[in-house]
Amino acid sequence: MARGALIIFEGVDRSGKSTQIKRIFNQMVNKGENVHLTRFPERTSEIGQTINGYLKSSNDLSDQAIHLLFSANRWEHAQSILNYMNNGTSVLVDRYAFSGVAFTAAKGLDLEWCKNPDRGLPKPDLVLQLDVDEETAKKRGGFGEERYEKVEFQRQVRKLYSQLREEHSDIWKIIDASASVDELTPALQNHVDETIKSCQNKDIEKLWI
Ligand code: TYD
Ligand code: MG
Repeated sequence: MARGALIIFEGVDRSGKSTQIKRIFNQMVNKGENVHLTRFPERTSEIGQTINGYLKSSNDLSDQAIHLLFSANRWEHAQSILNYMNNGTSVLVDRYAFSGVAFTAAKGLDLEWCKNPDRGLPKPDLVLQLDVDEETAKKRGGFGEERYEKVEFQRQVRKLYSQLREEHSDIWKIIDASASVDELTPALQNHVDETIKSCQNKDIEKLWI
């Protein structure tokens, strides 16, 4: 059986990831395609609830401890993602280990240290980075409610995405997300469709191994 693809949406806060990924997911469901939608942080598990508290500043943790919890949150769902893929269902994910690395490294922690806990996770077949500058993101509203939603910090995150993009040029597509919502969806859908076709018979690889 053809396996499903693992497709990640990445970008700074308010870049439009969640809006676009939901549109793509709904379109695919309506066409009867096998697709599953998820996101990280996945805030409902025990680990996820601790992360949620941290993001809302109701609890405080060291930079290292929260980094490891974000990673653990991915690992607690890794097998389920693999199961979907092996059963022919493509998985769309709103943020993944690239957010993990970019957001922690933006605090000044070593990039390789940041990658270590996520080594071995299912490797994505495609990363769609919705690229928008920090000032545009800020204007979109809602910015500033959670930890990290500060212009200077997001600028740093965006720089780290560029570095990760260079390391992953085989799977990474950068998309100008300053375009209108309606213009963007078909372009993203094309990338998703092409990837699902091209990875059908490829082995699932491990990230950063
Ligand atoms: P976000 O995905 O923006 O959720 P919402 O759409 O509800 O605002 O929130 C998650 C925040 O956590 C975001 O600022 C990025 C950050 N983050 C990390 O620091 N490390 C990680 O591993 C992940 C997945 C996210
Ligand atoms: Mg956010």
